[in-house]
Amino acid sequence: MHHILSARDFGKNFQWGVAIAAAQNEGAAGEDGKGASIWDAFAKRPGKIRGGGRPTTGCDFYHRYKDDLLLVKALGFTVFRFSLSWARILPDGTGKVNKEGIAFYHKVIDECLKLGLIPYVTLYHWDLPQELQKKGGWANYFINKWFNRFVTVCAEAYGDKVKNWIIINEPFGFTSLGYMIGRHAPGKTGLENFLPAIYHTSLAQAEGGRIIRNLVPYAHIGTAFSFSQVVPHSDKKEDLAAANRVDILMNRLFIEPVIGKGYPIDDSFKFLEKLQLHNKAWKFADRLQFDFDFIGLQYYFPVVIKYNPLVPYVQATEVNAKSRKVPHTAMGWEINADSFYRTIKRIWLYGGVKEIVITENGAAFKDEVKNGIINDTERIDYFRHHLKAVLKAKREGVNIKGYFAWTLMDNFEWSEGYTKRFGLVHVDFKTQLRTIKNSGYWWRDFLNG
Ligand code: BGC
Repeated sequence: MHHILSARDFGKNFQWGVAIAAAQNEGAAGEDGKGASIWDAFAKRPGKIRGGGRPTTGCDFYHRYKDDLLLVKALGFTVFRFSLSWARILPDGTGKVNKEGIAFYHKVIDECLKLGLIPYVTLYHWDLPQELQKKGGWANYFINKWFNRFVTVCAEAYGDKVKNWIIINEPFGFTSLGYMIGRHAPGKTGLENFLPAIYHTSLAQAEGGRIIRNLVPYAHIGTAFSFSQVVPHSDKKEDLAAANRVDILMNRLFIEPVIGKGYPIDDSFKFLEKLQLHNKAWKFADRLQFDFDFIGLQYYFPVVIKYNPLVPYVQATEVNAKSRKVPHTAMGWEINADSFYRTIKRIWLYGGVKEIVITENGAAFKDEVKNGIINDTERIDYFRHHLKAVLKAKREGVNIKGYFAWTLMDNFEWSEGYTKRFGLVHVDFKTQLRTIKNSGYWWRDFLNG
């Protein structure tokens, strides 16, 4: 008989969640005392966001959280991951606490608990208060002091209700796109921004872990990394070396200091040596370590890399999925579940990782609404294949505790604005009407199967 994949195959303690993020979902940008974030400011700069979208309204989670949590429940999930907006809680990033901001997340958490949804809270999902960016943001030495205060305020406010904490979402994502390439907020470029941002972010994730450990009894603490399998374009020596450099950046840069290996300084990739020199980082190597209860693993796609001497420092470029004529999503990201399996195994085989939670995985497609129905079969296939990859790794002994789909509903997709849809629920951004996509119904059946 043909075996239909079901949630039961993963064991009864496996946690099934769906994830969102403050800047992408909440909207209510200037409401109830919230300060501006770097995304509010960045989106105002012409040409930065595709289609000109801004996070001002998002999908209005701030006002619709009760209905949206009902949707989470209706789809059968038992865990809900969301992030706290630093500028909603501390409008200037430091200084005065905004009581209404604190109250909002109490309401969200209480509603989760009422519905029987376990809250997973992300402390930083890319929306730095703009006031702190004016002082240099993640490139400023004082960011660690500011971040520690924010973490302390949150732990003290929510620690008795929330046990699952994710310190930082994808450190490589926001430091590279926001402080080196300039494609994401705050739009900074160059090593003079990137290197200090790397160092301060790795310190923040470990210090944040320690603060939660001290303030929240029985906490289950993780931090979330993006990983991609990096495949060399050919067997030529220069392509192999280029792929290795990209691998160091995309996969090793942030996890290795945490698990006690220090920064991945490679003789063939000299530029990272500057990291060591920066702030005399080697002196503080032990402060970059933290014994996380779990590592949040986020996976979307593999990359194929070839040597390109014209690209500064990394001397490598991606050979994109479209030109390779392989299946890809609306983001242009290759669809490859085997590479997900390999990524999970690799992180597990590092040693030093106690538990893995898949904190994000999902795909954007050009969804069409026909007679009120969104038949997103490609997304269903994406999930089905990627879940099989998780199950295979789990059966081979990897301690995977849970899986979170990205994302509950279509939302503000950073520099892609509202033009890319990742949701299990479709959002009409003019009316805020929600329509469950067929992938959402697929999840419901899968979780109840
Ligand atoms: C981020 C999400 C984002 C998703 C799709 C992840 O890198 O954590 O915020 O929407 O990828 O791009």
